[in-house]
Amino acid sequence: MTNQVLELSQFRAFVFDAYGTLFDVNAAAEKLANDLGPVWPDLSNLWRQKQLEYSWVCSLMQSPWRSFWQVTQDALDYALEFHQLDSDKWRGPLLKIYLSLPAFAEVPTALSTLRSVRESAYFAILSNGSSDMLNSAIQGSEFNQFFDAVLSADAVGVFKTSPQTYQMVIDRFLITDPSKVLFFSSNGWDIAGAGQFGFTTVWLNRGAAIRDRLPIKPDFEVPSLTDFLRGNGH
Ligand code: LAC
Repeated sequence: MTNQVLELSQFRAFVFDAYGTLFDVNAAAEKLANDLGPVWPDLSNLWRQKQLEYSWVCSLMQSPWRSFWQVTQDALDYALEFHQLDSDKWRGPLLKIYLSLPAFAEVPTALSTLRSVRESAYFAILSNGSSDMLNSAIQGSEFNQFFDAVLSADAVGVFKTSPQTYQMVIDRFLITDPSKVLFFSSNGWDIAGAGQFGFTTVWLNRGAAIRDRLPIKPDFEVPSLTDFLRGNGH
């Protein structure tokens, strides 16, 4: 973990990935764990793995646009079949929960604290999530009115780690120096993409994962937003 204290006043914008960073993607299967049985963690992990895999492949092959909501459904269909689970029984309930995933416990307080520390900065979500998915997730959260912008890959028709996605932040807030954007993500690949683009990056390593061997390393690594704030004196 990088222990250097960050001077937060240098940043013009604080930008957050959504799924896995603010919202707990495993909560859908976890909420049905008693009915699903012990397979639920494997189902959830395969669902997430395929969701991300399909987003990368569809963007790399420049296929006609498929929203992240469609990709999320495709990935669930694969995971249910792989685990020989009845799609008619599980697909609907799992997708319904996915549209209102809970935020990680520390998120509302941490965002509120950060906003009070940097009132003049911009705050945004930058996500592969389709606009309807994101609006649904945020409507149900404690930080509904918190963000100045919710930026969806829908707007550029390509998924992260395409530079076009991170460029949305620059265009929206008219920021000339990308390093003045502090970008938070739990996904190592997203951190690499944002770092390659020029953002200053904070890897929210919630699961104490080992670091991806990608060409760009995170500028900072913390286990939670609370730890990030505490490490910077707040
Ligand atoms: C997001 C997923 C990919 O963009 O984490 O929110």
